Amino acid sequence: LILAASFFAVSNAKANILNGVKQSIRNFPDGFMFGAATASYQIEGAWDADGKSENIWDRLTHSIPCRIKDCSNGDVAADSYNRHTRDVEMMRELGLDHYRFSLSWSRILPTSFPDVINDAGVQYYNNLINAMLKYNIEPMVTLYHWDLPQKLQEMGGWTNPHVVDWFADYARVAFELFGDRVKYWMTMNEPHEICNAGYGGMGKAPQLNFKGLADYMCAKNLLVAHAKAYHIYNDEFKPKHGGVVGMAISAGWAEPESEEHVEASNEALLFGIGQYAHPIYTKEGDFPQIMKEKVAVKSAAQGYYRSRLIEFTPEELDMVRGSADFFGLNHYTSSIVYRSNVTLANNEDSDVSSYQPSSWPTSASSWLKQVPWGFHKLLNYIRDTYDNPVVIITENGFSTLGGLEDDERISYYREYLNAMLDAIEEGCNVAGYTAWSLMDNFEWLEGYTERFGLYEVDFTSANRTRTPRKSAFVYKEIVRSRALDP
Ligand code: NOJ
Repeated sequence: LILAASFFAVSNAKANILNGVKQSIRNFPDGFMFGAATASYQIEGAWDADGKSENIWDRLTHSIPCRIKDCSNGDVAADSYNRHTRDVEMMRELGLDHYRFSLSWSRILPTSFPDVINDAGVQYYNNLINAMLKYNIEPMVTLYHWDLPQKLQEMGGWTNPHVVDWFADYARVAFELFGDRVKYWMTMNEPHEICNAGYGGMGKAPQLNFKGLADYMCAKNLLVAHAKAYHIYNDEFKPKHGGVVGMAISAGWAEPESEEHVEASNEALLFGIGQYAHPIYTKEGDFPQIMKEKVAVKSAAQGYYRSRLIEFTPEELDMVRGSADFFGLNHYTSSIVYRSNVTLANNEDSDVSSYQPSSWPTSASSWLKQVPWGFHKLLNYIRDTYDNPVVIITENGFSTLGGLEDDERISYYREYLNAMLDAIEEGCNVAGYTAWSLMDNFEWLEGYTERFGLYEVDFTSANRTRTPRKSAFVYKEIVRSRALDP
């Protein structure tokens, strides 16, 4: 039935062309790469198999009953640790050019350090990578997608400046083990979620909830750790393997409520995307000036002697500036922003507030509304602010409550791809697009209640059966034809 439905949609478009109905088929640029993404903790399961040690999501989901919405965890998840053959088959069914996945640090290095390398964990990734390469599917590997070894968290995790060396050692091991076959590397996934939600709030593990201090400590250490890994690759591995290294930064577009709030929009973007992108992608490097001013002024008013924003040393600034070969962008949604002029709480540094109008199409996730024009504007902002870098869309996607008939997801993908083509036409240097997600998975604090997959996963079946949704057939046709038909 699904096959028939997608075939009908395609042949209907052709019929319209023949009937002379005005059509504008839009082609993607030559060499444009299409892929899909996942992350280790969200799909692998096998949380303590074959020598893997505990990470911060194992700890969070196990330590407090029902910390997760449906009281679930990632112990088995989609069981991809045992099902990579089927996963690669799905990539082939979709005709993907690339697949983005992440490595589990505590699966490869159970003691967190390179003193012990866990062969079974390495074997899993080798099997996956080799199977993909057999079918010409390019691996894009994220080193850190939120599953820090628990022991490192006990020593402060991303707030401890030594994490720079811990991460660099881990990155070197990964480059050594997989660098002969992996040419696309991302150091971090969504630093804003790692630091601002994980250390500044309760949104992600380790739920440290120390806004205004721990988030800034994390941000600085994470950027230096990223830069150190980048330089290790650049100096030691790039000459041999010729790959590229970047970061996957999340950003929503901040639309000013009116002309009056343009400055508020700018501030929201600088505190959001700018906190992580400015130090890497601007010529000056460093955190945005407005952050330096606002965080420092507030601190002085409170009697601090220095800013709570942790400054880079001159050496660190040099190391971080320019430490990326491409700009990985995770984008889902947008909001309307305005200057609220409220009195800030002690740990707040910006009084820009935001909302999403109820008229915007909704998804199963409270934060995710369909706003394709925001994608277009954000891509233009990146072009103008960061000197038109090569952008790879490292995530974009839509959630439903489940089911194979996912017309809303189809509409989301089509509208967002269309908006991306508008931006490309206006000179944005977008080289690839990655759908989130290849399959349903553990959606962090929301457990299995929100489904992002092109493939549905039956989490009640022993073999975690994967079934393509209607959107999978539509995406497959876009990838095959390298075009969007109207
Ligand atoms: C971004 C994150 O990288 C991913 O892990 C998450 O599942 C999706 N957004 C959807 O929320």
